[in-house]
Parts: sequence; structure tokens; C-alpha cells
Amino acid sequence: MKRSTLIILKTLVWIGCLLPAANLVWRAVNNNLGPDPTAEIQNVTGLSALWMLTATLAISPLRALLPKYLNWLIKFRRLIGLFVFFYGSLHMLTWLGLYAGFDLGTIRTDITERRFIIAGMATYLALLPLALTSTTWSIRKLGGKNWSRLHALIYVAAITAAIHYWWKVKTGVLTPAPYTLVILLLLLARPVLAWRKRRKAQTVPV
Ligand code: HEM
Repeated sequence: MKRSTLIILKTLVWIGCLLPAANLVWRAVNNNLGPDPTAEIQNVTGLSALWMLTATLAISPLRALLPKYLNWLIKFRRLIGLFVFFYGSLHMLTWLGLYAGFDLGTIRTDITERRFIIAGMATYLALLPLALTSTTWSIRKLGGKNWSRLHALIYVAAITAAIHYWWKVKTGVLTPAPYTLVILLLLLARPVLAWRKRRKAQTVPV
């Protein structure tokens, strides 16, 4: 890929990923966050983190399916992954600050009485080491294999995020279903594509 194309694509990814945050700021400044601004911020940041997490998970299967055309996608995985952490952090801080007012008692009650909060925290804790070791220096320090093993935590985060979402919505509400379906497909794609790769490697050309 040409350097200029890469710069244009990176700029577009930056703009796309910053749009939800910019939209929230714009609406906050114009007093247009609806009847419950805290819930609106919580929902927008949560959903943004979730869909960006799905996008990072999709990159490997897409490259494996069409290596000739989509290999370049790898150049965007770290960037989108860091945006997952960015929105996850905003989301968590919204809860800590706007819901709980940084009050330890409220935080403790929320954790013990609302199981979806525990699933959200588990998701955030799974994302934290990924963000901390996202640098090239960390890959070198940990070694490629260990780094890859650690980064498999993204699958844990994807699953606990789905649980968090299902536990948050009222019984009968199906809004987490599209996300869950996509995540399940992407998780299933992994062993299937690994098997296909092994088979290809075993096929000796005559
Ligand atoms: C410490 C970690 C977390 C806490 C305390 C937390 C807390 C919350 C709370 C309180 C809500 C409900 C908002 C409301 O009822 O109006 C919520 C919703 C949500 N959270 Fe989290 N969360 C955490 C981490 C995450 C992470 C890491 C993700 C995604 C990767 C996520 C995705 C979502 C989604 C998708 C919703 C629902 C949005 C909607 O209904 O439109 N959460 N979270």
C-alpha cells in the first residue's frame, strides 16, 4: 500500500473512531443529551467500545479469508484496539463519577447488587493489559508468542462484554443479539480458519 493511501486511511479511521466522542461533546455543549444525560453518555461510550472491539476481532478472520486484498487491515488493529480502551475508560469513569459520584459506598453496593457491573469490570480488566502492552517495545520485551497469548484476552473481553450487555438490559429486550451473533461468528471463525491453514500447509504440491 502506498504511504499516501495509508495516511488517508489512518486519518479516516481516527475521524471515524473519534466521532462518537465528538458527538457527545457537541450534544453536551448544546444541552441536547436527552432526559438522562448520564445514561446517554454511558450507553454511547459502552456501545462504541463494543463495536470497536468487534471490529478489532474481525481483522484476523478477514485477512485470513482474503489475504491478497485485506492484509493491510493489520495496520489498523492497534489503533482501533486503543480506541476500545479509550471508550471503555470513558464508560467506566462515567459510572465512577456521574453515577456513583466517586462515593465508595455506592460503588461497593453497585458491585455487590448489580451483577452486570461485575461483568463490565471483568471486561475492563481484560482490556487493561492489552492496552498497557500495545507498544512495539512490549512485543519485543515479551516475545511474540507470549504477547500473542496475552492478547488472546481480547476473546475474554468480547465474551464478558456480551454478558455485561445481556445482564444490563431488561428480560425480553434483544438489543444485544446482533452484537452477540457477530461475536459468536468471529469466535467460531478462528478454529475454522486455523484448520484451513493447517490443511493448506499439509497439501504437498505435485
Ligand atoms: C468497570 C467497567 C464497567 C462498568 C462499571 C460499566 C457500567 C455500565 C453501566 C452502569 C451501564 C448502564 C447504563 C444505563 O443503565 O443507563 C452499562 C451499559 C453498557 N456497557 Fe458497561 N460498564 C463497564 C465496562 C464496559 C465495557 C468495557 C464495555 C464494552 C467493551 C461495556 C459495554 C456496555 C454496553 C454496550 C452497555 C449498554 C448500552 C446500551 O444499553 O445502549 N461496558 N455499563
